[in-house]
Amino acid sequence: MSSSWRSSATHRRPTQAADTPKNPGPIHPDLIRDPNPKPKPKPFLHFLAFLLLIFLGLLQFLPASHFRDPSDPLRNWVPFSSQPSPPPPPSAVKLAVDEDDGMIHIVSWMQCLDLRVLAVFTNSTLSSSRYPDLLHFHFFTPQGDKDKVSFYKLKVLFPHSNIELHGQEEVKEVIKRASSGEQHASLNLEEIAPFIIPSVHQSLRKFIYVSPNMILMGRIEELTGMDLTAHAAAAAEDCTKRLNSYVNSDVLDAIQRSASKPWISVTPYEKDACMPDLSLLLIDGKKLEEFLEIFLWWSKVLNLSDRSSERNPAMALALYNRYLKLSDSWLVKEPAASVDVTEKSMIIHYDGPKIVCSGFGNDSVSRSFHGNSWMKYLPAMSNQILGS
Ligand SMILES: *[C@@H]1O[C@H](CO)[C@@H](O)[C@H](O)[C@H]1NC(C)=O
Ligand SMILES: *[C@@H]1O[C@H](CO)[C@@H](O)[C@H](O)[C@H]1NC(C)=O
Ligand SMILES: *[C@@H]1O[C@H](CO)[C@@H](O)[C@H](O)[C@H]1NC(C)=O
Repeated sequence: MSSSWRSSATHRRPTQAADTPKNPGPIHPDLIRDPNPKPKPKPFLHFLAFLLLIFLGLLQFLPASHFRDPSDPLRNWVPFSSQPSPPPPPSAVKLAVDEDDGMIHIVSWMQCLDLRVLAVFTNSTLSSSRYPDLLHFHFFTPQGDKDKVSFYKLKVLFPHSNIELHGQEEVKEVIKRASSGEQHASLNLEEIAPFIIPSVHQSLRKFIYVSPNMILMGRIEELTGMDLTAHAAAAAEDCTKRLNSYVNSDVLDAIQRSASKPWISVTPYEKDACMPDLSLLLIDGKKLEEFLEIFLWWSKVLNLSDRSSERNPAMALALYNRYLKLSDSWLVKEPAASVDVTEKSMIIHYDGPKIVCSGFGNDSVSRSFHGNSWMKYLPAMSNQILGS
């Protein structure tokens, strides 16, 4: 109060002096007798201000009653009492949803449409998330957005969720153009698609890819906002599968020594490196240039036309030292194992009936399923809606 009064007084003085620049008088009488004399502060106001200061100071010693969860994109204030044990987000995680629209984009690719599997995946993800409104599902299916019936069935089950069906043609076209015909026939599109989608769908730059046939048990939003630093992808490591059981070590050494490609490791490849688990990936499309070329190159030099192993080591080699490792809790587990392990698993395999993709259009439903985790997320009523 008094300081603002003083500053206005000091402002006034020079203008008054400028009004009478040629006045030879030694001192203008106005300058001696200030027209606005400084009011004397009343002593009790001093005291009041002092009390207020002490009061504000003491407030600091009260225990905090509210906090803001760093994994909350809206940064809402949450009272401590309503959150007896706020789950501490993993240290590397600070939630920052897609910069453009604030949504968490979840992408999946299905060779043959299986609505039951999609519904279980969608419901488990929504049910486990604290921010279901922020989740946006993108399902790449053979018919894509032309398949209105499937879309409406999903919307009947999940009327408030953001679900989009996309076609697969554009992505397939990119892969076809980049690979030779013979090589193309042997590629597993489900595996490569997540790395191609950002180049085809400009709005999908940063997303979480989850292969179908999964049940989410963890909060998927904990994965967003992870700083991928220089990497294009993040995945969990599966140390039950090692590089040397998928590719001949001598062949790999020979390639490492002789081939001159910028993406080849300068040091020999670790033979027992853990394989990345490609079931759940964080993808940052901005850093994916060349990835398809690298992947196709490895597929070619390793002669993977004979697909004796179910998993393609070309992907592991293309990602070698180039992906951020997610914590083990994001490694896909078997449903039975997830019951008794102490560490809660975030994602398990779908264990219900599913469509077996033949590739000839005569897909059949496999009735031999092995668990009942899926039933929790697809009650009989919902199952009927999908089946009708
Ligand atoms: C690649 O595999 C095919 C079939 O398994 C075989 O005929 C061919 O000789 C192999 N080529 C190389 C370079 O190993
Ligand atoms: C699907 O049809 C193809 C030919 O159209 C046939 O060769 C194949 O055996 C069929 N598969 C099943 C599972 O019926
Ligand atoms: C989703 O799963 C919950 C159980 O987690 C269940 O109560 C609910 O009915 C399911 N929703 C649909 C549409 O099936």
